[in-house]
Amino acid sequence: MAKTVSFPEGTQVPCHVGVIMDGNGRWAKKRGLPRKFGHREGAKTFREITRHAKRCGISYITYYAFSTENWKRPKDEVDAIMELFEKYLDEVRDFIEENIRVRFIGDRTMLSENLQRKMASVEEDSKDFDSMTLVLAINYGGQDDIVHSCRQLAEMVKKGELEPEDITADMLESRLYTEDIPPCDLVIRPSGEQRLSNFLIWQAAYAEFYYTNILWPDFKGEDLEKAVIAYSERNRRFGGV
Ligand code: IPE
Ligand code: IPE
Ligand code: MG
Repeated sequence: MAKTVSFPEGTQVPCHVGVIMDGNGRWAKKRGLPRKFGHREGAKTFREITRHAKRCGISYITYYAFSTENWKRPKDEVDAIMELFEKYLDEVRDFIEENIRVRFIGDRTMLSENLQRKMASVEEDSKDFDSMTLVLAINYGGQDDIVHSCRQLAEMVKKGELEPEDITADMLESRLYTEDIPPCDLVIRPSGEQRLSNFLIWQAAYAEFYYTNILWPDFKGEDLEKAVIAYSERNRRFGGV
């Protein structure tokens, strides 16, 4: 499916969109349901929005699905989220049919072996696809990402392969979990919160932010389009004039 959403003339569609999928718990609470029902509904939204992002002509879409801090939640909620990942990773295979590449960022070593296996296999099977890249941040933290990169540089220094004064931002950047993925242009956060919560802190250094009070399970394709149009109306200066 090619780009099918027609934006007003001159609209600049962001190359890389980051989405903080927030508000699942409140969505369920409003309906008197346990929080896990909100996560289940949020997973449906994720599928719809991914397809819509492709129609919008977005090249990379990164979803914050589970943060390094989310382990603090009650065990039954964490277990329910992990179960959903297992189920949805099977369904993520549908995206492969749409020529979408799937990648994961974050520390996988804390995840179940079964989940890690599924992640590796989806990544392998979709690695040549290029209509869009879908990035899932699972056990991801922006601070952990930077530490993980710095450790690799420190190892090089220790082995005598690198002098500390030769370390550059590019070297650090290319060792982040996002490796060769371009910087994030637009961060969308639903649910009314206006913070980054340790999402792509390095990669979003010059991102535009779009906030909406809509809870993630209620977020629709047209809300994504509104965010793209709002982004396009911003004046990005990158420190220049
Ligand atoms: C986001 O929704 C999903 C995850 C963090 C896994 P929340 O569960 O944070 O929903 P609220 O913020 O409590 O409504
Ligand atoms: C951010 O949402 C993490 C994800 C959406 C995965 P949180 O709900 O965990 O963030 P805080 O706690 O409100 O900052
Ligand atoms: Mg939340």
